[in-house]
Amino acid sequence: MLNRAHAFALTGLDATPVEIEVYANGGTDPHRACFTIVGLPDKALQEAKARIRSAAIVAGVNTASSIILVNLAPAEVRKEGAGFDLPIALAVLAGHGTLEGQLVDEVAAVGELAFDGRLRPVPGILSIAEAAVRVGRPVLLCPAECAAEAALVPGCRPVGCTSLQHAVRILNGEARPSDLRPAGAPRDADVPDLVDVRGQPSARRALEICAAGGHNLLMIGPPGVGKTMLAKRLPGILPPLDDAQALLATRIHSAAGVLPPGSGLLRVPPFRAPHHSATTAALVGGGTRIRPGEVTLATGGVLFLDELPEFRRDALEALRVPIEDGTVRISRASGSVVLPSRFALIAAMNPCPCGGGGPDGCTCTRERVIAYQRKASGPLLDRIDVGVRLERPAPEVLRVDQPESTQTVRARVCEARERQAARGCINGEIPVGELDALAPLAEACLTLVDQAVRRLGLSPRGMHRIQRVARTIADLADSDAIHTDHVAEAIAVRLGALA
Ligand SMILES: Nc1ncnc2c1ncn2[C@@H]1O[C@H](COP(=O)(O)OP(=O)(O)OP(=O)(O)O)[C@@H](O)[C@H]1O
Ligand SMILES: [Mg+2]
Repeated sequence: MLNRAHAFALTGLDATPVEIEVYANGGTDPHRACFTIVGLPDKALQEAKARIRSAAIVAGVNTASSIILVNLAPAEVRKEGAGFDLPIALAVLAGHGTLEGQLVDEVAAVGELAFDGRLRPVPGILSIAEAAVRVGRPVLLCPAECAAEAALVPGCRPVGCTSLQHAVRILNGEARPSDLRPAGAPRDADVPDLVDVRGQPSARRALEICAAGGHNLLMIGPPGVGKTMLAKRLPGILPPLDDAQALLATRIHSAAGVLPPGSGLLRVPPFRAPHHSATTAALVGGGTRIRPGEVTLATGGVLFLDELPEFRRDALEALRVPIEDGTVRISRASGSVVLPSRFALIAAMNPCPCGGGGPDGCTCTRERVIAYQRKASGPLLDRIDVGVRLERPAPEVLRVDQPESTQTVRARVCEARERQAARGCINGEIPVGELDALAPLAEACLTLVDQAVRRLGLSPRGMHRIQRVARTIADLADSDAIHTDHVAEAIAVRLGALA
């Protein structure tokens, strides 16, 4: 008997509808039994057979003698992961008369089965729920832990199930779905406060400029002066994500399988700090299964590269296009996807391999220092707009300084962003083509920029970036026009990134 179920294949961030046709007959001869899945299933999906057979026994159906043929259409789309377990199992049970095939045909389903029939969460529920609504199948049977996430999609009617038996009983009208666990509150409290950072006024100022304009920042300083501390506090001073940004960030984290169950929409800008041993695939995405990388996970927030020179050269090179374009294309034999990669880059490094932190200052040879700095230099540094040198604060500064809190700084950043939005800039960004219209420079400012370009040997990109940073500094000062002191500060912070 032929039954149909409906599921979704996840590629990057997008879910494609998949129709599952299941021919299942409860035969009597175990020697003729078979269970075949066709339609480009991956290994995890092939292994669904064992999970489904075992879970079906717990649901009261022994398939040891059955002939089961499963076809996943469209045939040319790769189907990956264990999320197909539930829809296939439901259609198999319908073939054995446990429930009406029509009931399974009317809904969409997703979820991984345990051998005892329990349902386990799967990645990408938000993308799947969006696709379910889009194709007109808004009732989505899913693991109970995933239902709150699916409910974030307008129009989706998630049905949380704890097990295969539970799903069957719900479809038969004998049980109610699990209660929706309310989505968690935004995790504002998780972000540490700027009030903890004593001294370091220029680094705090640099952080504020970067937050207001979405610029990239490099912090150079000896160990233990607060570089990591400051970076971790950047998400707190960024404006909270708006609805569209929050949905995108949540979709990305869900597709990557790193969204804690029940966390709700991500409103706090993400903070990603990959270890310096990270591979290119981990940073920009990829692998046999196309997975979002750190640049995509940081979208809407911050990518922090601590100990910059320790990163692999090829991994740093791979960041150039994602930083510039705000998107990353991942190509595989199975196809290619374009994922977002729009984030503020923060990098931190010591001035030299020894860190310059010993009682006698730096003990490195000149050659070692040059080799160390060269590892981080080149095309990546050209994309850094703001650089700052941190020194050790005096002990009394650590005791008496009364720094501003995250809340105070965020208020200024939000005001600057509102000014930018009124001019038509999105997330503080000024498209290069519109730079002269949106950030016009007076004659005196142009002279300053020209001098800096000649003296520092700046690229056209570097010149544009000075103009953008000057615009941000003027916005923070609530000034419609860009003045020479704004340009001078923009040049000074640019110099910090080159030093
Ligand atoms: N400016 C500061 N104000 C208050 N505490 C500080 C400051 N700088 C450092 N600390 C203290 O030192 C610890 C280490 O700071 P942090 O990790 O930010 O140093 P770092 O500059 O990143 O060093 P490294 O180069 O070794 O990574 C912090 O957890 C904090 O306790
Ligand atoms: Mg550090």
